[in-house]
Amino acid sequence: RETRLTGAAIGRGNYRHFMEKELHEHPVVIGDVLSRMIDPASRSVMLWDLPFDLATLPRATISACGSAFYAGLVGRVWLETIARLPTDADVASEFRYRAPPLPSEGLGLLVSQSGETADTLAALRYMQDEGQHVLSVVNVPESSMARESDAVLETLAGPEIGVASTKAFTAQLTVLACFALAAGRARGTLDAAREALLTQALMEVPGQAAEILSEETTAAIGRVAERIAEARDVLYLGRGSCFPVALEGALKLKEISYIHAEGYAAGEMKHGPIALIDRHVPVVAIAPSGPLFEKTASNLQEAAARGGQVIVFSDAAGAEKLKGIAAATVVLPTCDPFVAPILHTIAVQMLAYRVALLKGTDVDQPRNLAKSVTVE
Ligand code: G6P
Repeated sequence: RETRLTGAAIGRGNYRHFMEKELHEHPVVIGDVLSRMIDPASRSVMLWDLPFDLATLPRATISACGSAFYAGLVGRVWLETIARLPTDADVASEFRYRAPPLPSEGLGLLVSQSGETADTLAALRYMQDEGQHVLSVVNVPESSMARESDAVLETLAGPEIGVASTKAFTAQLTVLACFALAAGRARGTLDAAREALLTQALMEVPGQAAEILSEETTAAIGRVAERIAEARDVLYLGRGSCFPVALEGALKLKEISYIHAEGYAAGEMKHGPIALIDRHVPVVAIAPSGPLFEKTASNLQEAAARGGQVIVFSDAAGAEKLKGIAAATVVLPTCDPFVAPILHTIAVQMLAYRVALLKGTDVDQPRNLAKSVTVE
């Protein structure tokens, strides 16, 4: 099988850390995935040969670990909303011991950068025993998961050296987005006009990612990082496809800056975390414009009313609506809500990186963490 290392020669170049370099590879990596999966002329997803029929799948089951699991959670939202495919998702270390019954001829979908994570590999084997068609989204084409799967969707992100995943995660999101569009088309839930609109939104992502990595936006993120670096606890809130982005933002912060952070579904805040909020707790809001914006805004209002420092990540229109309650704002490019989780991920990963710089931690090799976890 062909291995492509497009845009990702190993070496740090002029970057301070591999993580910084890999953050700056987002536009190229996402563009590489799209150029393989989208036909720009017809603005449709290219359906590749899969050894099963997307149209008749009864159910999909996603399993993964760490950041890859959060990519899977976004994938679940897309598969359910776009392809109307019932989809379950669980961390591999729980999934494999739950002994979940799976419908025959269902889809088992594994997501992994390395393709070697022990629990995810065990989940793959469980799915095979349960008669699932097994599809892996992996970044290492010669990995164990790639070898043992019925089909593989490569993420083409090139080698990722930083322990905390960055570009591999957005590549996973991009692959899953294209897969959901393909499934929607096959299942008759996505018409050609909507497919054209959504593929167009995806094709704009590399340029928008570059805007997020521009000096202006990274400087705005750097100013927010100064607030976060002082905090002991940080709450990340999001809804819908941006709830997993809140989880990813909190995980990245924990991993590389050692600040305690929690990602929460914005609507769930009032069932617990709101008790923690005071003026010392930054609340990072992943709040792009879209159908869930108003609901998220009202949750943020509740946080602000309790003295929380609300830090808004949104587009220009959303930022304007939230300016009355925001202690700080980072304005991201205006986009279709479909691709918002990809763009917001880049911003929250950059935020974690900038906080870690201020903290002076070992960004590429955080304590106690390993790039690939091949033990259970
Ligand atoms: C480790 C890494 C994470 C990664 C997780 C899953 O914990 O530090 O960045 O998300 O493993 O790894 P995988 O290779 O399966 O994506």
